[in-house]
Amino acid sequence: MTMPRRALAFLLALAVSTPLFAQTAQPKPVVAKTPVAPIGSLAPVPTTPAPVSSHAPFEAADCKICHENADPKQPGPVVKRGPALCLDCHEEFVGVMKRPHTHDPARSACTNCHNPHNANAPKLLLKEAGAVCTSCHDKIAKVSSEAKVKHKALTTGAKCGNCHNPHGSAVAKLLVQQPMDLCLKCHNVDTMADANGKKLQNIKAWLGNNKVRHGPVRSKDCSGCHQPHGSDQYRLLEESYPAEFYAPYDARTYALCFSCHNDDAFSTPQTTTLTEFRNGATNLHYVHLQQSGRGRTCRACHEVHASNQQRHVREGVPYGSGGWTLKLNYKENKNGGSCEKTCHAEKSYVNK
Ligand code: HEC
Ligand code: HEC
Ligand code: HEC
Ligand code: HEC
Ligand code: HEC
Ligand code: HEC
Ligand code: HEC
Ligand code: HEC
Ligand code: HEC
Repeated sequence: MTMPRRALAFLLALAVSTPLFAQTAQPKPVVAKTPVAPIGSLAPVPTTPAPVSSHAPFEAADCKICHENADPKQPGPVVKRGPALCLDCHEEFVGVMKRPHTHDPARSACTNCHNPHNANAPKLLLKEAGAVCTSCHDKIAKVSSEAKVKHKALTTGAKCGNCHNPHGSAVAKLLVQQPMDLCLKCHNVDTMADANGKKLQNIKAWLGNNKVRHGPVRSKDCSGCHQPHGSDQYRLLEESYPAEFYAPYDARTYALCFSCHNDDAFSTPQTTTLTEFRNGATNLHYVHLQQSGRGRTCRACHEVHASNQQRHVREGVPYGSGGWTLKLNYKENKNGGSCEKTCHAEKSYVNK
């Protein structure tokens, strides 16, 4: 059976491609990059044990719905190639496949992911959701399985489908929602914890209560700092940022912040131009960050997502495991600012 089918497929391909050769002046059609599933891989799966899903028109046992012949032993070739066969019945997908962003394999053949007859996974998928995606996206597969910090969003519920539409979307990268809304649809609870059981901030509530947003959050770009699929850095960050409250200073430790902010402002002891966090010419960023062994990290003083104070200075820092907050009591004044009895006795600085 293989030989005649292969020959047929070849003839068909030739028949389809000949007119294209004849019209070389025409603009090239958009050719999908994904190869169609190999011949033989789309046959019906055995019916014992019962498949997880089965296609209504296949259940009808009239192979002629899609093939040239009704006879299950010799159904012959399909009557149409590519998505056209499926779109005849799945009219709702005609619209889906006209969205501004469509998925390459869905443009070339729906059978890149679905068995047209039945399958050992739900929704006629060739493999479980997630596995069907990583079978082509090997780089994402590697990141998500080998990253030191993994993101549970990829392994729960619809897996990749939590964030991507496998067919088409109005949003770039096939995202099911605008990027920030996507993150906040899950990061809107007080009960979420990381892999070590440490409670994670309810980001949606925080953004609701803190109106001054950090630049990239204002432009709704959570991926400007976080890797959605997994990362070797703390908190899925794009670049390094210390996980601890104290860290010895090294510009590389703060690669995340310094990918957008100038690190000279932190490594120059005396300046009247690089930072406003200075007392006269004494750079107070330098003073706090560069203390040997006990250098304060940015989180000692700044909120990274949003705040209610100028320059994202935070109101307090979490202290100990009891959920207690140590107030910074930061105040700006007309000449600079001050901090009150928290880390040290009240101190003020003058930068005007
Ligand atoms: C909903 C449409 C549909 C129905 C109904 C259908 N098929 Fe198919 N079948 C396909 C498609 C699409 C392919 C893949 C054709 C290709 O890629 O060349 C296929 C391929 C096959 C193959 C070859 C597998 C391969 O990859 O070479 C077999 C065998 C087959 N079908 C058997 C059947 C039988 C038996 C029936 C009736 C009981 C049936 N099909 C009904 C759509 C259908
Ligand atoms: C003759 C009409 C017809 C054709 C052609 C057809 N389908 Fe379907 N398909 C159906 C019907 C009917 C259902 C069941 C719908 C329901 O249950 O709501 C269905 C359901 C499905 C489902 C959901 C299965 C599930 O378990 O929920 C998928 C996926 C699917 N089809 C894919 C395809 C693909 C891929 C093709 C092309 C190879 C195709 N269909 C061609 C009629 C068709
Ligand atoms: C890249 C893989 C992939 C390709 C290619 C693909 N699908 Fe799907 N499809 C999925 C996944 C994953 C799901 C299950 C997620 C969901 O329910 O949306 C799904 C679900 C479906 C469903 C069931 C929807 C429901 O609400 O139950 C239908 C029908 C369907 N696909 C039709 C198609 C058609 C038609 C094409 C070709 C135009 C196609 N698919 C191409 C991955 C794919
Ligand atoms: C048969 C191979 C194949 C499968 C299976 C597959 N993809 Fe893709 N995917 C591709 C190709 C090819 C591209 C286009 C890549 C390019 O243009 O460089 C792509 C692109 C993408 C993109 C980027 C789209 C863009 O606009 O930049 C996303 C997101 C994506 N796939 C997600 C998924 C998800 C989620 C699944 C599982 C439901 C999946 N893919 C399954 C082959 C596949
Ligand atoms: C938590 C949401 C989320 C989940 C779950 C998720 N992605 Fe993504 N994915 C994104 C976002 C956001 C982007 C766009 C990133 C950007 O623009 O920097 C993206 C981009 C992509 C791209 C395009 C890559 C590129 O560099 O342009 C591919 C391919 C992709 N994802 C595949 C997958 C696959 C496969 C899975 C499942 C294993 C998956 N994604 C799960 C959010 C997610
Ligand atoms: C489908 C739900 C879901 C979506 C969508 C989602 N997340 Fe998550 N995220 C989780 C869960 C659950 C955890 C906690 C478990 C874990 O992964 O450690 C988490 C954890 C995190 C963590 C902490 C990881 C750690 O262990 O240190 C960060 C950072 C994060 N998510 C950022 C994002 C960003 C950015 C987006 C949008 C691109 C996003 N999330 C979208 C469910 C989601
Ligand atoms: C400017 C870079 C940046 C942007 C943009 C950003 N984050 Fe973060 N995010 C961080 C840093 C840094 C941390 C670690 C904070 C810490 O532990 O002090 C973090 C931590 C987190 C955490 C873990 C919170 C916890 O309790 O430890 C989540 C969840 C998270 N971010 C989600 C998001 C979401 C959702 C967005 C988009 C609204 C976003 N982030 C935008 C830098 C960023
Ligand atoms: C993706 C780029 C990006 C990254 C990464 C980034 N920032 Fe920012 N940051 C900005 C932008 C843009 C502004 C907004 C400047 C404005 O409001 O005019 C800003 C403003 C600030 C401000 C307030 C300055 C002001 O003038 O109000 C502070 C404080 C700050 N960032 C701290 C940090 C810290 C700490 C990190 C690392 C955890 C960091 N940033 C990482 C882009 C970034
Ligand atoms: C000891 C507290 C403290 C630490 C630690 C700290 N900052 Fe600041 N930072 C401030 C204060 C206070 C201001 C506001 C100065 C003013 O405008 O009066 C500020 C201002 C800023 C600004 C606005 C521009 C400027 O320099 O005036 C940026 C950007 C910034 N900090 C980034 C960072 C980054 C990145 C880190 C970590 C590498 C960090 N800060 C660590 C207290 C701190």
